[in-house]
Amino acid sequence: MKKIAVIGSINMDMTATADRIPQKGETISATSIAYVPGGKGANQAVAAARLGGDVTMFGCVGTDPFGKELIANLKNNGICTDYIDELPGQSSGLAMIVVAENDNVITVIPGANQYVTKEYVDRYKEEILQADIVLMQNEIPAETIRYAAEMLHKAGKTVIYNPAPAQTADSDLVAYSTYLTPNEHEARIVLADPDSPLEALMKQYDGKLIITLGSKGAAAAKDGQIVRIPARKARVVDTTGAGDTMNGAFAYALSVDMAFEEALHFANAAAALSIEKAGAQTGMPSREAVQAKLAE
Ligand code: RIB
Repeated sequence: MKKIAVIGSINMDMTATADRIPQKGETISATSIAYVPGGKGANQAVAAARLGGDVTMFGCVGTDPFGKELIANLKNNGICTDYIDELPGQSSGLAMIVVAENDNVITVIPGANQYVTKEYVDRYKEEILQADIVLMQNEIPAETIRYAAEMLHKAGKTVIYNPAPAQTADSDLVAYSTYLTPNEHEARIVLADPDSPLEALMKQYDGKLIITLGSKGAAAAKDGQIVRIPARKARVVDTTGAGDTMNGAFAYALSVDMAFEEALHFANAAAALSIEKAGAQTGMPSREAVQAKLAE
């Protein structure tokens, strides 16, 4: 099995469940509140590890009580946390989430995630290069992502870049990425192309660009043909972390040598299962659960 590394964010999610998403300037009452581990990086690491992947997390937390809890959560999921820095005087990343109407709104306070710098990557270069497959997202500084992607590309590693939340990227970063996994909105921003039909974009980045389409599943091009992966039926409880599950599961699938299309089907089924429970990580499935879903 190939080794997976995630260089990314580690957050505590403060998740309020409400009957609807509040309007601008409005105050509404939530029906419940929960503090659960999240962060796009940590979520993707947990998704891959729960499926049985060999995962190491690279990132930073603060020395607040959340930091210890977030590291313990990763360890409990079987993830190597040896290279996570605990930064004195910094707060751990925090996400304020409202879940309602089968959707969510999220505000992230980056805290210690801002300190996943180029220097951090240099400090753990040897350990990062132990991995075969590396996942990154946009909740750490942009210059770190570009720097690490260049290093990893030159070392012949598989780089999965999930450009979420949406952020522009230079064409080099796109070139250094083996796979790009945006949603439609993020795709247009990361590729700086507001107009081209999605199919044309996918064909331009054949075998690289995987577009997640929410309740419509995912799509990509392979060998000039569009591959559509329809969403699987799910009882929606909380969609937070569905994209992260897709990314982590795709990395896992590659780590056990699944072919491109099979890996997409596997990741898509994992994402469907993940939205049936509250919290980003709670519903992330085991390999057996995904296989059962695929057999349905
Ligand atoms: O993708 C979902 C994640 O985005 C949440 O867990 C939250 O921490 C934000 O980073």
